[in-house]
Amino acid sequence: MSFLTLTGIQKSFGPVQVVKDFDMAIEKGEFVSFLGPSGCGKTTVLRMVAGFEAPSAGTIVINGRNQNELKPNQRNIGMVFQAYALFPNMTVHDNVAFGLKVAGMDKAAIDARVKEMLGLIHLGHLADRFPYQMSGGQQQRVALARALAPKPQVLLLDEPLSALDAKIRVSLREEIRMIQQQLGITTVFVTHDQEEALSISDRIVVMNAGRADQIGTPFDIYNRPATRFVASFVGTLNLIEGTVVDPTANRISIGDQDITLREPLGPAKAGDKVSLALRPEAGSIAEGARGDTALTGQVISSNFLGSVIRTRMKVGEPVISFDMFNAPGRNPPAVGEVVTLRFTASDLLIIRE
Ligand SMILES: Nc1ncnc2c1ncn2[C@@H]1O[C@H](COP(=O)(O)OP(=O)(O)O)[C@@H](O)[C@H]1O
Ligand SMILES: [Mg+2]
Repeated sequence: MSFLTLTGIQKSFGPVQVVKDFDMAIEKGEFVSFLGPSGCGKTTVLRMVAGFEAPSAGTIVINGRNQNELKPNQRNIGMVFQAYALFPNMTVHDNVAFGLKVAGMDKAAIDARVKEMLGLIHLGHLADRFPYQMSGGQQQRVALARALAPKPQVLLLDEPLSALDAKIRVSLREEIRMIQQQLGITTVFVTHDQEEALSISDRIVVMNAGRADQIGTPFDIYNRPATRFVASFVGTLNLIEGTVVDPTANRISIGDQDITLREPLGPAKAGDKVSLALRPEAGSIAEGARGDTALTGQVISSNFLGSVIRTRMKVGEPVISFDMFNAPGRNPPAVGEVVTLRFTASDLLIIRE
């Protein structure tokens, strides 16, 4: 049985239902991210797991025990919020010690545990500082140590990195992942940042308007998006409209060109529209590029983004973006140039909902 299970969870505030039919089973030691746009219900689900909100329907079970009737302080859950939320009038040591004092641990044991926790986040030398004397990244590491000190059975993190600078965000997310793996603690991490979710999760739940649109590994979510929403929210993607030419032969047209899909079209007749997704990194215009499928178009823009060059070309009406790695001596395609993008037919996904 899974360690943390949410079954049939619903939540309404007054007449507004913000979480709908949410089901999720998280294994012990797993790192799961809830990924979705602002307002889709991520925090609300997290708060129900922590016991700050009661579900309107459904059950929450942790380690075989139903949590619905338990108060937050009976659930043994560690939580880290976006705002650092440290006690401003307490030192780092006392912040981390707080939960242990409440639990009635004796002073020697508390000091040992605080030392261990500060070692884990490499802030042992700042034990006597106050929050205002530390950077945002340091405060968030203390918040993590404070959450982990009482050995919670589950760790919940609600957008813990979103108030930090880009560089710190990346290093701290890696640190969080390392600590999580070191402790083997079951973790739910909320974010609206797809790169963050893709880079550190065992599995991702992509949330859309209170529902889980797709649950899967980062690889699955990125490469096999189940819905139009997931396809467009996770990564940069071309959503292309094609027209069925010959359904039995899997032939479709994009703009003025016909191609054959690998994935079966399913029930369709000539003239039906079909939504297709293609990642910008899937193809290449390089001389001798491989791929069983080609689309030729005219370049309408080419943007230098640093490590990649993103080019947009027009294939009849539809516009398709593709990326190529920057290489010294390679010029981006010029606007107006006609280029041929080669890719593998199986990279073209049919989006059905
Ligand atoms: N206590 C509340 N009362 C009324 N509406 C709420 C309350 N908490 C959240 N909501 C609403 O529920 C929806 C989901 O909110 P939230 O879970 O915070 O989203 P997210 O964390 O994904 O940004 C939003 O429309 C929000 O306004
Ligand atoms: Mg939120």
